[in-house]
Amino acid sequence: MAEALRIGIAGLGTVGASMVRMLQDKAAELTRQCGREITVVGVSARDRNRDRGIDLGNAQWFDDPVALARAGDIDVFVELIGGEDGPALSSVKAALEAGRHVVTANKALLSRHGVQLATIAEKKGVLLNYEAAVAGGIPIIKTMREAMAGNSVTRVFGIMNGTCNYILTRMEAEGISFEDCLADAQRLGYAEADPTFDIEGQDTAHKLSILTSLAFGCRISADDIYLEGISNITQADIRAAAELGYRIKLLGVAQKTESGIEQRVHPTMVPVSSVIAQVHGVTNAVAVETDYLGELLLTGPGAGGDATASAVIGDVADIAKSRPGFQHGPVFGRPARELVPYKRARMRSHEGGYFIRLTVHDRAGVFAAIAKRMADNDISLESIVQHGDATEDAHKTVILVTHETTEAAVRKAVDGIVKDGHLVDKAQVIRIERAA
Ligand SMILES: NC(=O)c1ccc[n+]([C@@H]2O[C@H](COP(=O)([O-])OP(=O)(O)OC[C@H]3O[C@@H](n4cnc5c(N)ncnc54)[C@H](OP(=O)(O)O)[C@@H]3O)[C@@H](O)[C@H]2O)c1
Repeated sequence: MAEALRIGIAGLGTVGASMVRMLQDKAAELTRQCGREITVVGVSARDRNRDRGIDLGNAQWFDDPVALARAGDIDVFVELIGGEDGPALSSVKAALEAGRHVVTANKALLSRHGVQLATIAEKKGVLLNYEAAVAGGIPIIKTMREAMAGNSVTRVFGIMNGTCNYILTRMEAEGISFEDCLADAQRLGYAEADPTFDIEGQDTAHKLSILTSLAFGCRISADDIYLEGISNITQADIRAAAELGYRIKLLGVAQKTESGIEQRVHPTMVPVSSVIAQVHGVTNAVAVETDYLGELLLTGPGAGGDATASAVIGDVADIAKSRPGFQHGPVFGRPARELVPYKRARMRSHEGGYFIRLTVHDRAGVFAAIAKRMADNDISLESIVQHGDATEDAHKTVILVTHETTEAAVRKAVDGIVKDGHLVDKAQVIRIERAA
């Protein structure tokens, strides 16, 4: 049997501890699959004395993850610390420069420094594997990096944040408010104490930026993502969506258009009959559309220690199975030096259908004025319905669904309606996404 693969794990939190446990539980099976043992020879975390409920065996303890990354006796450095800079960045860089393979679950790190790290990995002829960084246990990186050669991707989109999907699912199923769902999610451990990063879409944006690079062969550009979170989604939106045959999901979408690439994260109406609309709770899903393959949808657990550790171990096992002299594939599907600069399509030129919910004064002429603003901006309507406002006699709710139009036209029409002075509350605009 070949020599054992020696790994060093930095970070023994939720994912790191699950990984150590799974490596022990599945040692015999992994050895059979890989043709060699996988041995943890070194570990690093902040607190050496914390009881993590895991057996670290003979692994050497390192206070400094950079020292572990450079340790002479490791073949693979596994980074499970988190954060885009700090010890995660310095240790991953040190490991790659020392010629070690790296496996990481860190989307923030890759989103910010991925191309730079890929350049080092490719120069050194080592692997930088990151399956767990996007949608946890779902093998979307492997699928896009290895299984779609020759295909041209036109769009990639998905539900990539379990906290947001859990909240939206419960809001719809139980008719409770965003705030109450969030409080429950925090109590059950699905949401962080400070949930901003998830709720406002940044977490999805990090993951999307990585998929965009794989999809379109461009440099990662996390700062060029249009971002809107779910905190202003109300029961009125959820109910109106259901009435119209839609369901609201927080989607990350990257799409090639004539003017460049759109990257956007926002609450989205998807047809209730679509497959992605059936993805509930903390589950994630990623859809990829290509010219030859058509549309592919992968769904599964997007987070949690065990699911994430399973993706990390899959990456480690790939390295264990590779043989010396084997030419390693590029990190983002093509050599880092050939990734083209990111060309951003302006959000104003986004084309699609729109849901617009307006709370207006109940007076003569409002309906006609709204319809005129739409017509003036060449927006054709699929439907327009008016409801009384249950809480306020003097108010009415007008719900519009547009045919395909542009973001610029919708913004102009809504600005016009605001100027007309008919609105009681801020207009709610939710984009509609085509989904099979
Ligand atoms: N949790 C998930 O469901 C999930 C899903 C997908 C991806 N990820 C990614 O996986 C990574 C790890 O996440 P996690 O949830 O496992 O995080 P976590 O529970 O917060 O664990 C982080 C670990 O890093 C250690 N650490 C922090 N600073 C360190 C330093 N300076 N030197 C050495 N060790 C240090 C901590 O040590 P102490 O334990 O001593 O404090 C802890 O063991 C992140 O990049 C995250 O985005 C997580």
